[in-house]
Amino acid sequence: MTNKQRLVLSSDIAKELTDVIDQCEHDRIFLLVDTTTERLCAPRLQDIGVIRNAPHIIIGATDTYKNLDTLAQVWTALGEGGASRHSLLINLGGGMVTDLGGFAASTFKRGINYVNIPTTLLSMVDASVGGKTGINFNGLKNEIGVFNAAHTVILDTQFLRTLDSENICSGYAEMLKHGLISNRENWAELVNFDLNKVDYKHLQDMVATSVAIKEKVVMEDPLEKGIRKALNLGHTVGHAFESLALRLDRPVLHGYAVAWGLICELYLSAVKTGFPHDILYQAVNFIRENYGRFDIDCKQYPEIIELMTHDKKNTAGVINFTLLGDIGDIRINQTADRKEIEEALDFFREG
Ligand code: GLY
Repeated sequence: MTNKQRLVLSSDIAKELTDVIDQCEHDRIFLLVDTTTERLCAPRLQDIGVIRNAPHIIIGATDTYKNLDTLAQVWTALGEGGASRHSLLINLGGGMVTDLGGFAASTFKRGINYVNIPTTLLSMVDASVGGKTGINFNGLKNEIGVFNAAHTVILDTQFLRTLDSENICSGYAEMLKHGLISNRENWAELVNFDLNKVDYKHLQDMVATSVAIKEKVVMEDPLEKGIRKALNLGHTVGHAFESLALRLDRPVLHGYAVAWGLICELYLSAVKTGFPHDILYQAVNFIRENYGRFDIDCKQYPEIIELMTHDKKNTAGVINFTLLGDIGDIRINQTADRKEIEEALDFFREG
């Protein structure tokens, strides 16, 4: 297993992919796509000589397919296509494709090289970078997987033009998180960006900054023993909201749940670790305006808290939070009691 990866910010995908493939020793190449990226994104690669003849392994789109059956489908396609330990898998898609494809590559014949070409904002700034791979199992998200970095991640922001505004907002929530764990200048730029009228050139620059923040954290702590937990800001509550929404059969995009989770966890930060109130309200206003609300009532608090206790970042059943003392002042391994969490949920509903 490896934790090193190269990040390439692409301005010419044909050239960069050709260079990466040249540098990466391989016999056969396979392209993994889902039904959406096969239609919308693969055509952008079709004239690139080095992969013109690569078989496309096409899997179902959306998180429902991030399971053992789909994984087996990918292993089977690799095996039947004559893949060896020296073959290369190129994952073209959002987080579901890069997570599942990364896991398939990491386990096929004990591990083959893979390259990620993320096509959503969420996977560009988060999922495809940092070597977390895996699938959902037994109703739990990313329950089975390994840390194993891609050989290279190629970021081509031209793909962002294929996304609807909900998917832009979803990825942008992880960028807000990166802003909060970095510095005030970055945060100010993020909350002044107009998500209703996306300036793609500006977004491209912000993606580069955002990925650099994540990369720095991952390099320091690839296996999440310490500071990588900074990247969990907003996610303890966010994952619980996401799971609740799924149980209620009204699924929400991951980044929306993270944005709502940020409101609760910044509130806890203000109460417990002195996070400035003006920035808390700046975040609340931005998130309310761009992500709307998630309807919960106090009768659902026990279920939300119960969902938090299942988070795989917890130790011995104690709910683990990453909080902030200020922008960039990261406090990992914090806890909160039931009353404090309920207060944060009250703030979320009413604030
Ligand atoms: N998505 C958080 C991390 O990669 O650690």
